Amino acid sequence: MNNNEVFTRADFQEAVQAITSRTAHRPEIALVLGSGLNALAEEVSEAERIPYAEVPGFPRTSVAGHAGQLVIGRLAGQSVLVMQGRSHPYEGVSPQRATFPVRVMHELGIHTLILTNAAGGINPTFRAGDLMLITDHIGLAAMIGLNPLWGPNDDSLGPRFVDMSSAYDRDLLHLALQVAAQQNIELRQGVYTGLAGPTFESPAEVRFLRSIGTDAVGMSTVPEVIVARHMNMRVLGISTISNVAIDRTDSGAVTNHEEVLAAGQNVGPRLMALLRGILSAL
Ligand code: HPA
Repeated sequence: MNNNEVFTRADFQEAVQAITSRTAHRPEIALVLGSGLNALAEEVSEAERIPYAEVPGFPRTSVAGHAGQLVIGRLAGQSVLVMQGRSHPYEGVSPQRATFPVRVMHELGIHTLILTNAAGGINPTFRAGDLMLITDHIGLAAMIGLNPLWGPNDDSLGPRFVDMSSAYDRDLLHLALQVAAQQNIELRQGVYTGLAGPTFESPAEVRFLRSIGTDAVGMSTVPEVIVARHMNMRVLGISTISNVAIDRTDSGAVTNHEEVLAAGQNVGPRLMALLRGILSAL
């Protein structure tokens, strides 16, 4: 993998041009839909659909359950840009290209980014089908060099050294909790650990992740949060717990992608209700 691609503002602007020439919408909020959550984009009205392949610089998605298109339109009274699927460094895409769409969102004038993902439950009280607000993360893959800010820094976008002390916006967290309480949606809160994947974790790795304070684990989101915070965008992260991570070698249980996609269908309606509530309060 090319681990250190460099993109410039001109590259982002070329993508913006491709998008704005296709739609009159000027979205201010973006939503990234993770594994098994694609169906949520079907609720966008006045929708303009643009395949990633038609936006210069956008990475392709190769993973089942990731449609690979932008859906731009109206949702819960807001102009939104929805990413129906994302790409991940394990697909052989550099961290810079995997997060290229976040750069383009910012260039489009988007200031708020809502990220969703499917994650494994590491906290022993979590069950498949739970929703978890991400309060903080451990960027394990980023900490060892899979960091999208690796390379030259464009000071016009953000600083060389980025503060991550409250990456997940406190006001958005409170709003999400309020909406969940009003709608009787049970919400967990916790720390998301971002790994490179694509292997699921071994039981020893699961116990290690638990010991360092992980509540949920996945293979996405952290790079997008890093790039969004680099540009001072507001971030909200929501994990859907698609499976309980296996912490013993003798459990007889296995983890597979089909299970992850099926869980997405189960939590879809609750997540949509939560997202609609949050969007209409913004
Ligand atoms: N581990 C890592 N990523 C995941 C998992 C998991 O158990 N479930 C969904 N994404």
